[in-house]
Order: sequence, then C-alpha cells, then structure tokens
Amino acid sequence: MPTLGVNIDHVATVRQARRTTEPDPVWAAAMAELGGADQITVHLRQDRRHIQDRDIHVLKETVNVRLNLECACEEEMLKIACELKPHQVCLVPENREEVTTEGGLDVVKHRSKVEDSIKRLADAGIFVSLFIDAHPEQISLSKELGVGAVELHTGTYANTSGAEQEKQLVLLTEGTRLAKSKGLAVHAGHGLTYTNVLPVVKIAGMEELNIGHSIVARSIFVGFQQAVREMKQLCSLVGSQ
Ligand code: PXP
Repeated sequence: MPTLGVNIDHVATVRQARRTTEPDPVWAAAMAELGGADQITVHLRQDRRHIQDRDIHVLKETVNVRLNLECACEEEMLKIACELKPHQVCLVPENREEVTTEGGLDVVKHRSKVEDSIKRLADAGIFVSLFIDAHPEQISLSKELGVGAVELHTGTYANTSGAEQEKQLVLLTEGTRLAKSKGLAVHAGHGLTYTNVLPVVKIAGMEELNIGHSIVARSIFVGFQQAVREMKQLCSLVGSQ
C-alpha cells in the first residue's frame, strides 16, 4: 500500500490571496498528521506564489513525519534545500507562466543541470527523487544519474478519461515495473483525486503518492484532518475491489 504525502501548497495559496497569516500551512501539516499523513510535501516555487521560506523552516521544526521538498534545479533552490536538509527533495520542472507543474522534468534534455543538482543534494545527505513522465528513457536515465526514487507524473492520467485514461494507466504501470526492476523506489502524483486515485493505488510496487489540490479542496467542506483521513483510507484499499 502506498504511503500518503499530503501536499499543503494550496493552503498557502489561500493565505497568499490576501498576503495575510491565515490559513497557516503549518497548522494544515499538523492536521494532516492527525489524519494519517505519512509525509508532508511542499513546493517552494521561485515565484513564491504559495509556500514561503518561513513555512519550510517552521515545518522543518514542527513536522513529525517525513518532509518532502519539491523544487526546481536552480541555484537559489538548491542552496535552500541543502541548508534545510528535508528528508527528501523531489526535483521538478518549473515555468513561471504555468498554472501548475506541467509534465515531468525532462532529464534527457536537461541532463547536466539535473546531474549537478542531484550531486549537490546527495552530498548534503538528502534523498533525491525526480518527478518524471513514465517514459522508459526518462526512467533509465534517472537510474543512471543515481537517484533513489522517481515520482511518476500522473497529470495526463488525471486529465483524461475512458480509453485514453486506460492507456495512461498502462504507461504508469509499465513505468513502475521498469523503475522497480532497476531498483528505484516509485512514487506518483499530480492531479490525483478521491475519484481517480484508486487505480494508481493498486499499481503493483507503488510506494508513495503525493496529493494536494483535491485534499485541500475537500477540506473546505469536511475539515483538513477528515479530508486526509478519507484519502488515506483510499490508499489502504490495495487488493480490494
Ligand atoms: N507531485 C508533484 C511533483 C507536484 O509538483 C505536485 C503539484 O505541486 C503534486 C505532486 C501534487 O499535485 P496536486 O496538487 O494536483 O495533487
């Protein structure tokens, strides 16, 4: 059964809408832990549109489960990550114009930048994951670059339906199998919701899911702890129908 990383970026999005102090993502992290989160995930973007530097430092002090920092392969971010030393850094692509992360990091195209970033983080003793599309060449190169895990991008799966979604699920399943055969830990995330997560939970070998927007959206109506608890229950349904 995959562990659940709860991405609290969009709690900070609501706060930043007013540039105020509430809601505090640090509170959300505590509620997520009470709801059964195995990990707290935050993306410190270069444009600081949601999570702020203060947040990651307070979270480092207060989170009792694992802290997973998502960041771009950029000098400023690598410096912050190496100083913070979270349990895990997931390297992601970043484009200032995008609404949210669009697609995985192209490690083939950006090989030297990704390689340098991995080395910096590994030298600081940080476990590194790469957020990539489930393509064989991306997975194989990730292994070559020496990371411990890949996070497979589920955005296309999430944004499709019917036969196309089935096709995307096959790609994710085959990608997981290939990555596992190479000794990589396999994570997944992006666009996962209460209604589309189950087939991904059931992929053999899936170890960690990072889910944010859908949990934050539901939390408005049922509370954060309850929203996390419901997602955690779905993550526990491996082997059931
Ligand atoms: N994993 C990664 C690498 C991401 O960049 C994001 C979005 O920040 C997520 C998971 C969570 O995506 P969502 O908010 O759509 O659940």
